[in-house]
Amino acid sequence: MSSIAINGGANRTAAFYESVVGKKAVMAATGFVLCGFVLGHMAGNLQVYQGEAKLNHYAALLQGLGGGLWAIRGVLLLCAVLHGWTAFQLWRLKNDARPQPYVKKASIATTYAARTMLWSGPIIGAFLVYHILHFTTGGAHPDFRAGEVYRNVVTGFRNPAASVFYIIANILLAIHLYHGVWSMFQSLGVNHPQYTPKLKLLAKAYAWVVGLGNVSIPIAVLTGVVGASVK
Ligand code: HEM
Repeated sequence: MSSIAINGGANRTAAFYESVVGKKAVMAATGFVLCGFVLGHMAGNLQVYQGEAKLNHYAALLQGLGGGLWAIRGVLLLCAVLHGWTAFQLWRLKNDARPQPYVKKASIATTYAARTMLWSGPIIGAFLVYHILHFTTGGAHPDFRAGEVYRNVVTGFRNPAASVFYIIANILLAIHLYHGVWSMFQSLGVNHPQYTPKLKLLAKAYAWVVGLGNVSIPIAVLTGVVGASVK
């Protein structure tokens, strides 16, 4: 292939990314990958209800993936960075197009979820940094034990401040997911009287499942439903 053809392809990709449609496509594609991870991670975490051996075995299986685990981490990190950076660029484009602030904010037509996207995104990013220091590296966990995932979760959530932070962050995440999944369908051009309400319901159901699944874990530890074996 000639260098002219390669340059032409790269230029077209760059031009597509520069457009608002291109940026929305990047948001939708990276959001889709992140949504898959969030659902899978929540389902894996629910094994905490099956006891210490089950959750630790699951965590060991993931660690056993070795290079595969690093490849997955790389893809997720790339998607998270692209998702955040593109959201920031879209926000800047929107602001540049409207230099004079409105006298009265015209937010009546948008939903609560849509209005919270801008600040829920960075808070979820901050939660993620804390979460990795808490349960993966242990830097933010006073009683962290490498490889003892069940114990780390139980002792981590016995701290009410940590649990409350997780609960708030995961409620914000659920709201973010509801609007994000719905926006993804819109970016794909879905606008049909028959399918639109169904897709809206799907976005809502997905957000509720992930939100309730995640929030239930700190609550289960705080109420003693999970973790009685950990002294
Ligand atoms: C109550 C809810 C959650 C619980 C109990 C939980 C639990 C855990 C645990 C125990 C680990 C460490 C696993 C290991 O070292 O083997 C972990 C890692 C991680 N969690 Fe969560 N998590 C929760 C919510 C979330 C959410 C909402 C996100 C994303 C928005 C998330 C993203 C991650 C990531 C990226 C890692 C690092 C994975 C890696 O590279 O090894 N978690 N989580």
